[in-house]
Amino acid sequence: MNSLLRYTRFGEPETTLELIPQPLDARHESHLRVQMLLSPVNASDLIPITGAYGHRIQPPLVAGYEGVGIVTQAPASFAHLTGTRVLPLRGHGTWQQFVDCPAELAVPVPEDISDALAARAYINPLAATLMLKHFPPEGKRVLVTAAGSECAQLLGQWALKFGAREVIGVYRSATHAKKLAAMGIIPVAQRDHEAIAHYAQNAGVVYEAVGGELADTLLTHLPDSAHFVSYGLLSATPFSMQKRAATLHWFHVRHYLAAMDTATWQAEFKQIWSLLRQTPTGDVTLFPLAQWQAAIAHYRTAGRTRKTMLLFDV
Ligand SMILES: NC(=O)c1ccc[n+]([C@@H]2O[C@H](COP(=O)([O-])OP(=O)(O)OC[C@H]3O[C@@H](n4cnc5c(N)ncnc54)[C@H](OP(=O)(O)O)[C@@H]3O)[C@@H](O)[C@H]2O)c1
Repeated sequence: MNSLLRYTRFGEPETTLELIPQPLDARHESHLRVQMLLSPVNASDLIPITGAYGHRIQPPLVAGYEGVGIVTQAPASFAHLTGTRVLPLRGHGTWQQFVDCPAELAVPVPEDISDALAARAYINPLAATLMLKHFPPEGKRVLVTAAGSECAQLLGQWALKFGAREVIGVYRSATHAKKLAAMGIIPVAQRDHEAIAHYAQNAGVVYEAVGGELADTLLTHLPDSAHFVSYGLLSATPFSMQKRAATLHWFHVRHYLAAMDTATWQAEFKQIWSLLRQTPTGDVTLFPLAQWQAAIAHYRTAGRTRKTMLLFDV
């Protein structure tokens, strides 16, 4: 039997998800079967459940986009993976005890990487590396918003590594300021409009995930030469397109996946493992799958400094 968190209609995750037992389907011959260990709760997992991408996906669906698990069954040509840890990506939802995924897209996890780090090595790290590659930070003043988020902290730290002149981190909850400073990121409170306007004036690139009033303030003050990369809308409020002089880019990981062949896909993770080994990431708080509602409540706590993780029975 499988145990899965699925939704059969769009709505708020708290009232729309249901944990159900279901007999396992037969495995496709080219797929791995992976018994899950850990899976994070990310904004990227919850937003689709609300129907924000209703033009592209339709329930019934199993929630969750990433996580780590152990291969229990494999096609003959991937038999060497049986019993090892992989990221079972780009198959079906990962918030279930057993995930089947295309064998060539499963990402082997190096031995020195912990389960808690491996489980969140996809969405945010890949988004950060792709944004830094396509909208480079070298020699520039960089602004990141939602600076308490894991994605922004990876972006900020790696932008400095890749040659940004300085990185400003605009945070909502003050609990993040000290940690940002320790990472070499200059912390600025989201309500400090004056400081944000000041830093925006000479910014080269902004990686922005909040939208609404904050995005409006930034766009009003950025110079023509700046690149404004919108990759999230945590406030759920759009921003005005009329105030902009900077060049606006819409970023989403999925726009880059189709163009990646298997070799490029696996190579991206070689870089990600190497970067993650050198990068401080936050601790995690574990919730057994049966306590998924408590996990979502933890995820929604403003000022949270630990990543929310679902723990599966093995
Ligand atoms: N486009 C893509 O391909 C892509 C890929 C990966 C991630 N993302 C986006 O990246 C963002 C961060 O994801 P994550 O997993 O890194 O998040 P996370 O670690 O779970 O952190 C969420 C953060 O969002 C902040 N936040 C929530 N609502 C906010 C608001 N209205 N204004 C300002 N800050 C707010 C919280 O702030 P406080 O703690 O300060 O209260 C918290 O620090 C999300 O928007 C996600 O959709 C996009």
